[in-house]
Amino acid sequence: MTIVWTKYVWNIISNQTMSSTKSSSLCRLGLIVTLGCIISMSVMFFWFPPPRNCPLPLPVQYKSPQGNSSLRPTVAVEDKPILLLWVWPENYRFDFSDCKKFYNIDGCQLTDDRSLYSNADAVIVYHRGISWDLRNLPPSPRPPFQRWIWLHLESPTNTHKIPGLENLFNLTLSYRQDADIPVRLKLITRKKPDEEFVIPKKDKLVCWIVSNNAAFTGVGTRNQFYQELSKHIQVHMFGKAYARFLGYDEYYPTLASCKFYLSFENSIHKDYITEKINGPLAAGTVPVVLGPPRKNYENFVPGDAFIHVNDFPDAKSLAEYLLQLDKDEEAYRRFFNWRKYLSPTPHLILQTQEFILAICTACGHIARHREYKEAHDIYEWYFN
Ligand SMILES: *[C@@H]1O[C@H](CO)[C@@H](O)[C@H](O)[C@H]1NC(C)=O
Ligand SMILES: *[C@@H]1O[C@H](CO)[C@@H](O)[C@H](O)[C@H]1NC(C)=O
Repeated sequence: MTIVWTKYVWNIISNQTMSSTKSSSLCRLGLIVTLGCIISMSVMFFWFPPPRNCPLPLPVQYKSPQGNSSLRPTVAVEDKPILLLWVWPENYRFDFSDCKKFYNIDGCQLTDDRSLYSNADAVIVYHRGISWDLRNLPPSPRPPFQRWIWLHLESPTNTHKIPGLENLFNLTLSYRQDADIPVRLKLITRKKPDEEFVIPKKDKLVCWIVSNNAAFTGVGTRNQFYQELSKHIQVHMFGKAYARFLGYDEYYPTLASCKFYLSFENSIHKDYITEKINGPLAAGTVPVVLGPPRKNYENFVPGDAFIHVNDFPDAKSLAEYLLQLDKDEEAYRRFFNWRKYLSPTPHLILQTQEFILAICTACGHIARHREYKEAHDIYEWYFN
């Protein structure tokens, strides 16, 4: 900069020198003074540079939602894939920040704002929310990068085959382990054994909470088994279906107060192993399961953590076994050995929280996966 300036001034001086007008000497004096000033200022600048210890500019501060500030913002919202929830399943709304709160998932930008449709990386479509004429599906053509996620958590027994959906989706979101995005709360391994676990105090032997007892949902098998079982052992019944409604805050304490809990699924299908077993596992109670074969349960839960009704020739011998365990503290305690190396996660129990895990799981999935995928013939997959 200084060099360029010096050259420029020098050129003027030279030009002035070459011209021999009367005013030239005055001009020349002025210019020499100017040049002198510039040179001396440059020299001063380099000799006495500005102090280096003046404060550096402050980095921009970001306010975290908690209200205190941190120097680094979390990943900018715009960098996260957008996951659009097309309809709220059963109109059970929740705060999208629950994904972070309950499951530490925040890799996507969840939204229900349909104006973001053309920019959404993925769209969750809730099966039971689709009308039979398909009128309320997201619009076509869809953006070429966009994936549609089929959300359905009911078993095949309780699934309507709405025609026209067979080849629309890219990803399935289901309790099935072979879904593209399986939804399940799993037991978590722990390296440091937990020696602390204490079996909660029990004042009941067998309990069962039943909220749905509608015959069309496939509950026939479990009701029949219950009828037979209750002839041989007392079962404490709770829930809507039995007019002894439990408040949400009573759910886990009630489970904990029973030695055994009937984890009877409404219908029997592969992998259809629901919160009905997670509840007692989390509460410190032994589940008595009725559902898919024992081997299927053992994909998710250690074999010595539960009792399977199929292990007995009939309900009567199951009842006898439970009564025997009631008198054998030592044998009962063994059902909790798994607690040393595994920890359960209590599931959310409010009805309006039914879909939080599934939606958050989808969020976590699309944050990590961008692969092309077509889910062909979802019904062929689901029903066979
Ligand atoms: C910021 O907030 C978190 C959580 O609310 C708290 O644990 C932490 O101590 C706070 N830090 C400061 C500097 O206030
Ligand atoms: C999603 O699936 C549809 C239908 O199967 C297919 O036409 C589309 O190309 C797929 N898109 C992506 C991004 O996987």
